[in-house]
Amino acid sequence: MVGWVVTVKGQIQAEGWLDLETSLEDQLANTTFSANSVLFVNTNPLENIEQLHQLANQYQIQDVQIAKDIHEKLQLEEAFLNRRHYTFHREKRPYIVLKWAQTVDGFVARSNYDSKWISGIHARKLVHQWRSQEMAIWVGKNTYRYDNPQLNVRDWSGKNPMQIVIDPEQTLDKQLNVFDQTQPTLCYTQHPPEDLPNLEFTALPQEADWYSCISYMLHNLHHREVASVFVEGGAQLLSFLIQHGWWDEARVFSSETKFGEGIAAPVIDEKLLAEEKTVSDDKLSIYYR
Ligand SMILES: NC(=O)c1ccc[n+]([C@@H]2O[C@H](COP(=O)([O-])OP(=O)(O)OC[C@H]3O[C@@H](n4cnc5c(N)ncnc54)[C@H](OP(=O)(O)O)[C@@H]3O)[C@@H](O)[C@H]2O)c1
Repeated sequence: MVGWVVTVKGQIQAEGWLDLETSLEDQLANTTFSANSVLFVNTNPLENIEQLHQLANQYQIQDVQIAKDIHEKLQLEEAFLNRRHYTFHREKRPYIVLKWAQTVDGFVARSNYDSKWISGIHARKLVHQWRSQEMAIWVGKNTYRYDNPQLNVRDWSGKNPMQIVIDPEQTLDKQLNVFDQTQPTLCYTQHPPEDLPNLEFTALPQEADWYSCISYMLHNLHHREVASVFVEGGAQLLSFLIQHGWWDEARVFSSETKFGEGIAAPVIDEKLLAEEKTVSDDKLSIYYR
C-alpha cells in the first residue's frame, strides 16, 4: 500500500493510505493545504516523479519526498557523520585529518622555518575548534623543533587532544612545550624512559624506518581506541602520509601572502576537492580521500 503524510514545519496536517479503489488525488482533494507543506509518500503511486510533482503543485504542496530516496540520503549522511567510527573499524587505525596553511605561491614556511603568519585570526580560531573535535594531535619533528607549538584548545572551549610525538632516538629537546606535561602526551621512541605524569613513552620497533614507525604507531593508537588524529604539519610528515594513503580528510587554508621561496606545501590530488569556502581573508579547501 501507499501511505502518505502532509506536514507543515514538521507537524502532520493530513495523512492517509491508498487502497485499490482510491487515488492519491481523491484523497488530497478532501483537504486544503497551507503554504510550505510537504508531501511524504513511502513510494510513488503515479507513473513517474513529474506526475507526482504536478499533483502536489495542484494542491499548493511545496515539496515531495519519497521514503526510498530519503532512506538512501540518510544512509549517506549517517556514513558521513560517523566516518571516524567506520574508518577506525574498517582500516584498524584512527581517522586522519590533515591540516595546513599555504601561501598563494605554495609554501608552508620560509626557508628559515618561520611560518608566521600565513592564515588569519579566524582560520586559527577554527583550527582550535577542530583540535577539540579529534582525540589526538600530531606534528612532525621539525615542527616541534622550530615552531615549538602549544597544541591545545586555548582559543575555543573543549578538551585538549592527546599530543603524539614520534622521536625514535630522542633527539628533540626536552624543554619543548610538547614535553611540559600540561597536556596528555604520548611519545613513541626506541628506548622509552620511565613515564611521567601526563607524559607516556611507548617503545617503537628497533631500527625501524619512518614507514614502520608510523605503521606501528597507527596500529598502537587503534589498540588504544584513539578514533581520530589531527595532523597539523609540517610538509615532510603530511607529504609522507598522503603518499602512503594514511589520511581521510585534508583541510587546506590558502592565503594571499607570498613567501617567494621556502618549504613547499604538500601536493594533493585536486580531483579529491569536495568543498571550498571563505574564512575571512583565507580560502579553505576540503578534500576527502
Ligand atoms: N603552514 C603550515 O600549516 C605549517 C604547519 C606545520 C609546520 N609548518 C612549518 O613547516 C616546517 C617544518 O616542516 P618540515 O617538512 O621541515 O618538517 P616536519 O614534517 O614537521 O618534520 C620533518 C622531520 O621529521 C622527521 N621525518 C623524516 N622523515 C619523516 C617521515 N617520513 N615521517 C615523519 N617524520 C619524518 C625528520 O626528523 P629528523 O630530522 O629528526 O630525523 C624530519 O626532519 C616548519 O618551518 C613549520 O613552521 C607549517
